[in-house]
Amino acid sequence: MNDSAGTLLAISDLHVAYQENREFVARLRPGSDGDWLLVAGDVGEKVADVEWALRQLRDRYATVVWAPGNHELWTPKDDPVTLRGEERYRHLVELCRGLGVVTPEDPYPVWTGAGGPVAVVPLFLLYDYSFRPDGVDQATALADAYEAGVVCRDEMLLYPDPYPTREAWCRARVEDTEQRLAAIDPALPTVLVSHWPLVEAPTHVLRYPVFAQWCGTRLTADWHLRFRARAAIYGHLHIPRSTVYDGVPFREVSVGYPREWRMRGAEPQGPRQVLPA
Ligand SMILES: [Fe+2]
Ligand SMILES: [Fe+2]
Repeated sequence: MNDSAGTLLAISDLHVAYQENREFVARLRPGSDGDWLLVAGDVGEKVADVEWALRQLRDRYATVVWAPGNHELWTPKDDPVTLRGEERYRHLVELCRGLGVVTPEDPYPVWTGAGGPVAVVPLFLLYDYSFRPDGVDQATALADAYEAGVVCRDEMLLYPDPYPTREAWCRARVEDTEQRLAAIDPALPTVLVSHWPLVEAPTHVLRYPVFAQWCGTRLTADWHLRFRARAAIYGHLHIPRSTVYDGVPFREVSVGYPREWRMRGAEPQGPRQVLPA
């Protein structure tokens, strides 16, 4: 390791319940003392697994920033932590704070290394089933998914409590987050970090298009422009790639399940460099 200025790195979908992924996380090391690591959700399902992974990463990287994925928000039947919905999210936020990991509830840290300064913004926005074909209502889209046998396990395991629905929780998160983003110094560009993509286009390459309804919200379609994103980081799709929308680089930075990353190589791809670009 050298002590050069450092790199802003991002990864997601570590899914450490899988032993091979756990071993991969245990091997992860920064390239320099100044490296920051953005973790865009789906670390794991059980709270103890999430803690295990984030603690190790926090011990190695100068700064670790976490945004929740749907898997952290599940209430698995075999997790001793039985909290649901908002309470579970708040519990994870407190856990992160205890570890020194930055969450969507904290002041946005400013990356001042190469490619900076930029405000690094972890987002928790969820989804509202609006990524569905125009003219198809929500109930029909969901029925189509059941018909196709492609239903996100969130329907069984991600409780929206105390909100009546996941889409209501999403709308509340979008409203609150929009205000916080609007309060960032307008001279400062941002790096937006969200488990779900902020725009719908990345879902057009899903193998099962009907799954897109669990992948984001149309309410954030212009956020990469409105909030001056230098880059938008996401995961969830398990389709790692780089694209550009409206001149803004989008990076899907997932590791994914062992059966997925093994199709691409002997090892999962490590953290992707966000800045310097
Ligand atoms: Fe995932
Ligand atoms: Fe996910």
